[in-house]
Amino acid sequence: MEGWKILKGGSADRILEFLRSVDDSFGPSLSSRVDLHIYSQKLANDAENIFLTANGMPIAHAAFYCNDRNTKVAFVSSLSVRAEFRGKGAGEFLINTVIQNCAATGMESVRLEALDQNPRAITFYRKLGFEINNFGAMEKRIT
Ligand SMILES: CC(C)(COP(=O)(O)OP(=O)(O)OC[C@H]1O[C@@H](n2cnc3c(N)ncnc32)[C@H](O)[C@@H]1OP(=O)(O)O)[C@@H](O)C(=O)NCCC(=O)NCCS
Repeated sequence: MEGWKILKGGSADRILEFLRSVDDSFGPSLSSRVDLHIYSQKLANDAENIFLTANGMPIAHAAFYCNDRNTKVAFVSSLSVRAEFRGKGAGEFLINTVIQNCAATGMESVRLEALDQNPRAITFYRKLGFEINNFGAMEKRIT
């Protein structure tokens, strides 16, 4: 879409601000399950972060790990789109960017967890080729 740009990386403050703006969209809110301060700090330190911006404003964020060289399974810890930008392809664009990054580092599949209470996310990931694996997580082969 016009004006959309991928921005790699992100400080804990920037991640925290974004997660607060989408907190109540995950089925049970994210803050009811994790401490947003600690989680944002962990993502900034340990994960790869990608923001999608529209005219400079962050509209979507993904945090993921491509560091398991043994299993070659990448893990998406968080992916969200600001409410007013949903249904416009931002989520699809971002997950495809994540997949490209993971494939480029030698990962062979991408795994994530979508809660049963979040049917929209499950529909979204199924449409994009993710399937529920034996452990109840969603997974897609990318090679
Ligand atoms: C799930 C989420 C990331 C989808 O992002 P999005 O930008 O709205 O999705 P897109 O516009 O890229 O849609 C891609 C596909 O997802 C599905 N989808 C999108 N919105 C949907 C809705 N309201 N209901 C059902 N399916 C939907 C559709 O199949 C859509 O394809 P189509 O446009 O060809 O019909 C977004 O809704 C979100 O941020 N939700 C809150 C946070 C969250 O649940 N994150 C995932 C858990 S980790």
